Amino acid sequence: MRIAWAITGAGHLLKESVEVIESLSDSHEITILLSAAGEEVLRMYGLYDRLVAITGGRYRELTSDLNQKYSYPITGRFSLGKYDLLVVSPATANTVSKIVYGISDNLITNAVAQSGKGAVEIDIVPVDLEEGPVDTILPSKLELSKCVKCSPCNAAVECPNQAITPYEEIDLLKCIGCGKCSSSCEYGAIDPGKIITIYMRAIDIENTQKLYDFEGISVFKSPYDLEL
Ligand SMILES: Cc1cc2nc3c(=O)[nH]c(=O)nc-3n(C[C@H](O)[C@H](O)[C@H](O)COP(=O)(O)O)c2cc1C
Repeated sequence: MRIAWAITGAGHLLKESVEVIESLSDSHEITILLSAAGEEVLRMYGLYDRLVAITGGRYRELTSDLNQKYSYPITGRFSLGKYDLLVVSPATANTVSKIVYGISDNLITNAVAQSGKGAVEIDIVPVDLEEGPVDTILPSKLELSKCVKCSPCNAAVECPNQAITPYEEIDLLKCIGCGKCSSSCEYGAIDPGKIITIYMRAIDIENTQKLYDFEGISVFKSPYDLEL
């Protein structure tokens, strides 16, 4: 099967999505499409290079909104029927809201719109699916309560991207999720993947519910549930 897999900027279900893409990449041609936020967040969680590793050749590319212009000509592939399936996983609340209101203003929402026009099936894994609390994982985080202000700060010295301002914070736009900071801080002041509980907003759940009314769109709870 030839699949286009769109990743948006959600940390929730991101690692799981990457794992499923990796497991499918031998048996299917997979084109990876990233929203701008999707690319940033993949890097923060140290997952970007894992996707680059499975690319190579036509229809096995990785394309990011950050490399596109305004009209997204690559999404013409969907209206031309070049793909069997478009998967959007994980799909942020932002992307879902744009899909349900028919907005096509980036690589992913244009891919969805063109898939609709080209009768390409769409599988979506929205991160905001049900009301209530959800546990999710953060990228690397400096825990100031554990920082003893070493001089120099080993975590900052070891960071290959100068992402750490000692005793203050990690600049996530520079962080590549390599985890060297965490292993170099003997006081455990860098948490490489803190789990926090977040609460779904009613408006995001409402938007997700609207997805069920779209012909050609199937909604899944997890990328592991996709029937591929
Ligand atoms: C570390 C991190 C994790 C995020 N996780 C989520 C998430 O799980 N769900 C969500 O809806 N937005 C999340 N966001 C916010 C989105 O990235 C943001 O709304 C972005 O504008 C979405 O753009 P996109 O829908 O075009 O990808 C996260 C942002 C950061 C920095």
